[in-house]
Amino acid sequence: MCGIVGFIGHKNAKDVVLNGLTRLEYRGYDSAGLSLYNQRYQIFDVYKDEGRVAKLVESTKHADFSTIGIGHTRWATHGKVNKENSHPHYSQTRRFIVVHNGVIENYQELKDQYLHNHVFQSETDTEVIAQLIETFSQTLHVENAITTTLKLLHGSYALLVLDSNDPEKIYAAKYKSPLILGVGSDGITIASDLMALVGYSSDYHALDDKTFIVARKDDVRLFNLDHQPLDLHLKKIELDDAVTTKGEYAHYMLKEIHEQPSVIRRILTNYYDKDIVQIKPEILSAIKDADRLYILAAGTSMHAGLIGKQLFEKLCEIPVEVHIASEFAYQKPLLSKKPLFILVTQSGETADLRACLVDLNERGFETLTITNVPTSTLAREATYSIELFAGPEIAVASTKAYVAQVSVLTILAYELSQKPFDLHTELSKAAISIENFLASENIREIVRHYLTRRNAFFIGRGLDYFIGLEAALKLKEISYIQTEGFAAGELKHGTIALIEDSTPVIALISDPKMSPNTRSNLKEVQARGAKTFKIVLESCKIEGDEVIIDDVYSLLTPLVMVVPTQLIAYYAALERAYDIDKPRNLAKSVTVE
Ligand code: M6R
Repeated sequence: MCGIVGFIGHKNAKDVVLNGLTRLEYRGYDSAGLSLYNQRYQIFDVYKDEGRVAKLVESTKHADFSTIGIGHTRWATHGKVNKENSHPHYSQTRRFIVVHNGVIENYQELKDQYLHNHVFQSETDTEVIAQLIETFSQTLHVENAITTTLKLLHGSYALLVLDSNDPEKIYAAKYKSPLILGVGSDGITIASDLMALVGYSSDYHALDDKTFIVARKDDVRLFNLDHQPLDLHLKKIELDDAVTTKGEYAHYMLKEIHEQPSVIRRILTNYYDKDIVQIKPEILSAIKDADRLYILAAGTSMHAGLIGKQLFEKLCEIPVEVHIASEFAYQKPLLSKKPLFILVTQSGETADLRACLVDLNERGFETLTITNVPTSTLAREATYSIELFAGPEIAVASTKAYVAQVSVLTILAYELSQKPFDLHTELSKAAISIENFLASENIREIVRHYLTRRNAFFIGRGLDYFIGLEAALKLKEISYIQTEGFAAGELKHGTIALIEDSTPVIALISDPKMSPNTRSNLKEVQARGAKTFKIVLESCKIEGDEVIIDDVYSLLTPLVMVVPTQLIAYYAALERAYDIDKPRNLAKSVTVE
């Protein structure tokens, strides 16, 4: 997590860095900081404090013009959320200033071995980097002092370094944490995510691990850690400002929920050309030839993976296992003879998944990453990768990426099946069904009436059970209501003991075969005082059902059933006046294990 931005060029670095940090705030928002060169005193000033980038904007209002600067927005790992632990950090004499995204696992050993006489200002692992660079710079050229330090670090880092003795350069380096270099007519921008580069750079280069950069106003050089030059491969930046702003919506989450029909349509446009699927044949062959698929993911992406399992098993009879990445990384199940690993990830940077991928690559397995960020680490390091085309997802709570993941998994499974229905038509119908629901939804009133307690349950059977898991994650993540998703039939085996007067229980009913069973489970909880309501597909509806969704093809119901649950979470958080796009303790891109 954490976002970093640096700029050196011909305009005020403060503006570039602060704008970039605002766009990267989804990566962490415990504290924010900025370092700018102060021409009068010939030093780098450091501004930092706990709190959001907006506060930093205020505190740097009167900062002098500087054409060089680095900044940071933090998700705390080492040390409390306070000013001292905020980045940037500096070395003992304040010569070197550092911002860092990642975790230095051996920072204590490094302190003990090289820095026992040093006074530390913070509890962070990052400060060790600044101190080591300064220590080595006493005998080495600064570039060597930095690479010597980098070689000692265990863990992950994306780093920007300033040297007060040479305020004409930004040094940068990357290992495991993402870092993108942007080039434009006004200068060089280096940031954790492409989004921070929009408007400032025309082209970008996504850095590989163990790259070391020396950037000046009009020139940038790339090296490996042994100081051998590396090539710059620039690609055009194709994002524009409209996709990174909220537009008419009060929150990114609401905007992203409303974008879902167009996400499905964009996926169809990108994946089909006149009914011919645009997926590399070798990817489809890799899936077809596997004797078992292992879907690895975390959080919402894992919930999309659970739907993917149903699709592959039902449409093409390929057995599938779904694993939580953080578990799979260190506790592998017995693997089949010819497995294919599918990594599902919005950000493409999730550290738990990276741990899986590094190991799978070392063992020579084939992997496929399905991600929203084609420049991401997991896209680049897998054997194959395909894109979600959801557009930037900025709210921490994932919504449109889930719909995109389920849509892309559906396309993959469909292309290997007997094609029992017309996918193009059915996905288009799903987009219309979501649109119709969004145009007439009354979820806010429902939330006010039903979600009055500190806890809640979603229940469902079949595919609806998996939607219930996702619905529960979304609700707890942003409204802090303790929520569980349950297989409807399983409640009576223990959990029903938690049902009290007015406990909210929300039933998801999209399969006519299982509708009577789920409805009788609702009766059981009602008899014990629960306040229940139902989200049902038109073909399952009976009188008194509260939320009705247009019918879609049976295997595509997750795409539409999830949408009311996203709005339930949204309005529950809105009613409680919580920070919907940046819920407490979380960050969008989880780059620590
Ligand atoms: O970027 P990823 O899809 O790999 O992220 C995985 C989870 O961290 C993510 O889905 C998380 O659960 C969401 N914040 C849930 O809304």
